Amino acid sequence: MSDHPQRYLVTVCQHRSCVRNGSAEVLAAFQQHQSATMMVSASECQGQCGSGPTVRVMPTNVWYCQVKPTDVPTIVEQHLTAEGEPVTALLNPRIHQTQATYANLAAQYQAFLQEEE
Ligand code: FES
Repeated sequence: MSDHPQRYLVTVCQHRSCVRNGSAEVLAAFQQHQSATMMVSASECQGQCGSGPTVRVMPTNVWYCQVKPTDVPTIVEQHLTAEGEPVTALLNPRIHQTQATYANLAAQYQAFLQEEE
């Protein structure tokens, strides 16, 4: 196991559809959190124009959709710093269908367990 902390590249689409939906503000919000373990960059269209602003996190290849500046602190704190856990509610369901489906099943299972109590 590496002694080095995980380093992330966060790309924020700055193409037409995403810009119309506020991606410049999302990019600015991420840039405020840039650190030794997180590089932030603008990107060209990432092919998810209908669900922008699009944010992609590498090397784990996590895609977020419809990201708002107010979502950025949650992504940074939950995913890009201590825990390394993607923010399920913001995952792009076209790309992370398995995770989204699993999250839905997990929620249904929790409700099922509570019915027993
Ligand atoms: S315009 Fe942002 S993904 Fe295409």
